[in-house]
Amino acid sequence: MSIDPINQFKSRQRETWAMGNFGDMAVFTTPVAGHLVRYAGVRGSHAVLDVGTGTGVVAITARNLGAKVTGLDLTPALLAQAGESAALAGHDDIAWHEGDAEELPFPDASFDVVLSQFGHMFAPRPEVALSEMLRVLKPGGTIAFATWPGEQLIGRQFSLIAKYVPPPQGLPSPVQWGDVGVVRQRLGNSVTRLHHERGIMAVPALTPRHLRLFQEAKAGPFIRAVQALQNEPARLAAWRNEMDEVLGEYLHDNVVHHEYLLTRAIKL
Ligand SMILES: C[S@@+](CC[C@H](N)C(=O)[O-])C[C@H]1O[C@@H](n2cnc3c(N)ncnc32)[C@H](O)[C@@H]1O
Repeated sequence: MSIDPINQFKSRQRETWAMGNFGDMAVFTTPVAGHLVRYAGVRGSHAVLDVGTGTGVVAITARNLGAKVTGLDLTPALLAQAGESAALAGHDDIAWHEGDAEELPFPDASFDVVLSQFGHMFAPRPEVALSEMLRVLKPGGTIAFATWPGEQLIGRQFSLIAKYVPPPQGLPSPVQWGDVGVVRQRLGNSVTRLHHERGIMAVPALTPRHLRLFQEAKAGPFIRAVQALQNEPARLAAWRNEMDEVLGEYLHDNVVHHEYLLTRAIKL
């Protein structure tokens, strides 16, 4: 019996993002959530969906403005953290769903705003995830997302992981979502008023090695890479050297600066 490679990929994603403690990384995605929610124009009257919510930073930011919020993620361990974080914020009315960006469990035209921060970019079939996000969005509603450009720090780190631990053949790289040309082509004629903006995510670090060790401890894709190379010490050392070199290019004033891309559009 052949195993469906797409489902196999998603099972692995679910395991990967449950590794380490993404909640500690989400300290650094929290300011981006503030930027994305403002950029999307979220208001208290809106029904908002956050796809790939993780520990819920975007969902909770939208709820802080009074919006009616739903957060969806593939990884139950992160949704549990999202629920705890929402309780700390005093919110018991965010609807958390375990689910897949490629098969959203909501009727057509359910939301005024559909958001994703470094989330839907990890779905293996971009056209399927995007058509689902647009399907559940009301005509005239806003789709907005944050993604990593391939030429910036995180994109280059993903490339280094792929160089040493090749990903499954045939799936597009998630950082294609950080390319304005690709994003414009994917959104195509289904939207109007397409707009982009860039921002900087700032992560304090004394040296590249400090941040690389933090990533290796906290973030699934980095933990997986180290695991895959653990029986090849020379290659692991080479990978770490290359990672530190790249990180060093973005470190100044004891802060690593990551550039991200925001996209916003209105559904026709
Ligand atoms: C880098 S984390 C971002 C989490 C959060 N949005 C943030 O900015 O802190 C990526 C998230 O996407 C989720 N994810 C990956 N593939 C997904 C899919 N196909 N459907 C829904 N969520 C997915 C992962 O479980 C993980 O929580």
